Amino acid sequence: MATPLADPPAGSPEKSHNVERRGFLTRTGVFVFGAIAGLVPTVGGLAVFLDPLRRRSQSGKFVRVTTLEAVPDDGIPREFPVVAERIDAWNRSLEPIGAVYLRRTKDQAAPECWTATCPHAGCFVAYDVQSNTFKCPCHNSEFQVDGQIISPSPSPRPMDTLECRVDSEAILVKFENFYTGKAEKVVKQ
Ligand code: FES
Repeated sequence: MATPLADPPAGSPEKSHNVERRGFLTRTGVFVFGAIAGLVPTVGGLAVFLDPLRRRSQSGKFVRVTTLEAVPDDGIPREFPVVAERIDAWNRSLEPIGAVYLRRTKDQAAPECWTATCPHAGCFVAYDVQSNTFKCPCHNSEFQVDGQIISPSPSPRPMDTLECRVDSEAILVKFENFYTGKAEKVVKQ
């Protein structure tokens, strides 16, 4: 039967070698553990950021904006915020994604709808009751009540229309963002 090796005497070269070796192993262990502990949340965060299935919003889908009753058929545009549900990993939250104008006349069952974002450079246009027009405060683009440009205007195109439908007295809008500063209406993906 093998006899256990005796501990080298204090101060001997073997003793100091053993002490150095234990210190090295301890430091290496701490470093490896720290690296793994730091990597887990980083990889988890990256997965959440990169995985589109984990970050979903309602952009491009029909979103409930208001009720039909809230848009009287008097031809005056009303502004409504668009709030969509966002699913981020395990969290569900509501977040504002834009604003729209809805307008309905007596012969229209469903309202017309425009995004409130100015096609020139993305500011929000405001409806002016006095002139019955839309005005953009940033560079003075003006639009008729049906969204057409009032010339001269820095905006390269009319206000952007959005699809809108009525479902059981609720108004649903397919909310989308478009590139600004272009003559064509192109959806931002
Ligand atoms: S952003 Fe509206 S006129 Fe420029």
